[in-house]
Amino acid sequence: TIESVHGRRMWDSRGRPTVEATVRLRGGLTGRALAPAGASMGSGEAVDLRDGGARFGGLDVQSACRAINEVLDGALAGRNVNDQGSLDQLMVQLDGTPNRSRLGGNALVATSMAIAHARAAAAGVPLWQLLAAGQPVRLPLPEIQIFGGGAHAERRVDVQDFMVMCPAATSFDEALEWTAEIYRAAGALLRRTGKLQGVADEGGYWPAFNSNEEALDTLMQAIIDAGLKPGAQVGISLDIAASEFGSNGRYELALESRVLNTDAMIDMLGRWLDSYPIMSIEDPLAEDDAEGFTRFSSKYASRCQIIGDDFLVTNAERVRAAAAVSQLNAVLIKPNQAGTLTETLAALQAGKDARFGTIVSARSGETEDVTIAHLAVGWNAGQLKVGSFARSERMAKWNEVLRIEESMGRDARFWGWDALPFQAS
Ligand code: PGA
Ligand code: ZN
Repeated sequence: TIESVHGRRMWDSRGRPTVEATVRLRGGLTGRALAPAGASMGSGEAVDLRDGGARFGGLDVQSACRAINEVLDGALAGRNVNDQGSLDQLMVQLDGTPNRSRLGGNALVATSMAIAHARAAAAGVPLWQLLAAGQPVRLPLPEIQIFGGGAHAERRVDVQDFMVMCPAATSFDEALEWTAEIYRAAGALLRRTGKLQGVADEGGYWPAFNSNEEALDTLMQAIIDAGLKPGAQVGISLDIAASEFGSNGRYELALESRVLNTDAMIDMLGRWLDSYPIMSIEDPLAEDDAEGFTRFSSKYASRCQIIGDDFLVTNAERVRAAAAVSQLNAVLIKPNQAGTLTETLAALQAGKDARFGTIVSARSGETEDVTIAHLAVGWNAGQLKVGSFARSERMAKWNEVLRIEESMGRDARFWGWDALPFQAS
């Protein structure tokens, strides 16, 4: 039984205020979770409650903490913690808005995740195991950023994430080993060419490239320098985050001072797909370009994972609608886009029902909270994206999956190629 829910202000990886919730049970066990925050957000996302005004750039979260302490605490106290579905539904009803703007997506997601942790504490098992509910699960294929760009690096390059995935690895541990070598090799390359400017919001290198292709070429070289085979062992994964620079069928590539229409954008991405071993591409077009998604997917879904992030905003209805007209073949799953874990799981399930690739994802603003590592494993999502291979708010998640993998012992299985929604050649 829930005794109390408490919200407090904490700080995220960008030094901005965020919300932590603690759910306390009768008898003293607790569950605790922190809300993450995005920078390149879809317009259909649950919105965070932020105080506005001058303090901390308007980003303070005292009002979201009050929503927990003055509304959710009273409403949830005395209820059975195991009814995650009803508790989440109650929070959604109390909020009463379509975008969670009254109580705040940040208040809701922190509380919903804290409830899950309290359930796991009460059951005396790790969260992933509680969520797996006795079903066999595999360790997720990690998608790991090497270069950051877009909204996470002041648009130094147009593309937001240049990532690698290692589906030919035989374990999660080995996939991280390969990635560590690639990350090192990429850093060495940038240092040698004088193009290293630091690290971006998610820990990837912040590179001084002159074109998006230069980033792709450098990534290829880093894979080879790491002693790995591009394509056969390691794939490139891109998050274009096209809503950040495109709308109404106009895409403004700042780096190359070019404006492309939807067809030209599709052609450019198609050339990249022909020239590089790109296995996954996220938000290739803007969230308002449904037509473009359909055209892009009809051409490339048979050989590449095409992920909707801003386009689907972790919404089960949107996933089903997109699947019905083959607009893509994968969905990014971010708990704070949905608001509660129940809604997050519904979106994931809709993705699985459509035979989509499903990728549990962090945000660019993160904390030491490792809940999503447990969601990816326990919900058997197939893939996990949490940023790069540096900065502890990222490494905390990778390291947590390593602990889980080790705890599974000889039963540990890795998703590998099976996680991808296309037939690898
Ligand atoms: P965000 O970026 O958290 O800043 O929205 C992550 C992503 O686009 O996948
Ligand atoms: Zn994205």
